[in-house]
Amino acid sequence: MTPMSDLAEALLARAVASFEAGAPALDAIAKDFQAQIGQGLAGEGGSLKMLRTFTRQPTGRERGRVVVVDWGGTKARAGLVELAGGGSVRIVVEEALTFPEAMKRGAPEPVFDLIAGAVGRVTRARGVDAAPLAFVYSYPARLERIDRAVALVSTKGWRLQGLVGRDVAAMLTAGLGRAGLARITLAAVANDTVAALILQSYQARGRDPETRPTDIGLILGTGTNLAADLGPAGIRNLESGNFDGVGGVETPYDVALDRELDEPPPGAQRFEKMVSGHYLGEILRRALVDLGARTGWFHWSSSSVIAAPFALDSAYLSRIADDRTAALDDVDALLRSLGVESTRHERHGLRALGAAIARRAARLVAAVLFGTLRFVDPRLDDRRTIAVDGSLWGGYPGFEGLVRAALVELLGRERADRVETAFVKDSTSAGAAVIAAVAAAQRSEGCSSA
Ligand code: BGC
Repeated sequence: MTPMSDLAEALLARAVASFEAGAPALDAIAKDFQAQIGQGLAGEGGSLKMLRTFTRQPTGRERGRVVVVDWGGTKARAGLVELAGGGSVRIVVEEALTFPEAMKRGAPEPVFDLIAGAVGRVTRARGVDAAPLAFVYSYPARLERIDRAVALVSTKGWRLQGLVGRDVAAMLTAGLGRAGLARITLAAVANDTVAALILQSYQARGRDPETRPTDIGLILGTGTNLAADLGPAGIRNLESGNFDGVGGVETPYDVALDRELDEPPPGAQRFEKMVSGHYLGEILRRALVDLGARTGWFHWSSSSVIAAPFALDSAYLSRIADDRTAALDDVDALLRSLGVESTRHERHGLRALGAAIARRAARLVAAVLFGTLRFVDPRLDDRRTIAVDGSLWGGYPGFEGLVRAALVELLGRERADRVETAFVKDSTSAGAAVIAAVAAAQRSEGCSSA
């Protein structure tokens, strides 16, 4: 080893260690999160929005055919879903849409027109002329009814002009009107976390009506958030990505990322900026640039993936973590495809950094789950179910294991074993359909009791 690489080793080890989030720090985060749930519910401010959802737990017997729109990232989907009761759900047809980058900062109407166009194609292809529609809008929105959602400041890099304060359900309805689809009528708006929670309840209770409903719906993908059934307060969308109690485990990379980004603005979505797929690759990129400037390693700025903000996709973290070969051959192939020549030491350093960033994300997730569970059930006596969806949970090797290990540290083995994490892959459209069916039942109960 040369003195130069000794220095690199030492600085790398320090950077890796800076992402450590020990049990005491996690415990403090969980306590803060729990307290902020109470604060938000009481209308006393705090960083958790605790938004109402106007839905309730399904029975598992819901039926019907529902058009669904799922808009929550760079992609959106329009589809047709059939519920046959007994927890059964079938995606009949689905079309994915990609939004051009420029659209994210333009006027909202073109976005809704693009979505309405896809709704037109999927419904016409199946000869559906009239049907209820469920709209999953996976950005912060204040629901005033099940079919009215006032947009708050968006996340995940979106900033449509003049969107804040407008009802996104009405905007989609207008888009459907412009597309000649006035008989496709918006029945419900929901967040993706709520769709995951409701779908897991529907499937579990459809199989066994005695099953306790799901407690938490968690999304870990491009963004992160959770919804929870808080008993008398109903099912709430916490918008936990905005949780701000993370100062104790921030690194200089996180601080700089938060400060330098204009969307979401500094101070907003601080938890999400340390946890979700949209940001993990960027944290890694920043660490590599920093170590590249201070050591003889990682002089990779010839690659645009290292040079350009947000170019290092979080999916690379998963691929890097997956390489178990001694010389990290697949990491080597990946880096070459990105125009980077690397040494074996550098590849191991890269892998260690990526793993530390993902591990911290998983541990932070465990902390907020612990905080939520304790709010619901202070002694954690009962069995609890968390429905989880998203590319990070599904795609990063061993992510679930990391979360569970941290839960064991925080709750102890016995209580952690009472907490089930259920992966509900591709839950959004299916869950939305259940929410629309629940809304239909609520409406008919409302009519009959009126
Ligand atoms: C949004 C949430 C959403 C989450 C997961 C966040 O950026 O604010 O509404 O649930 O991403 O998609």
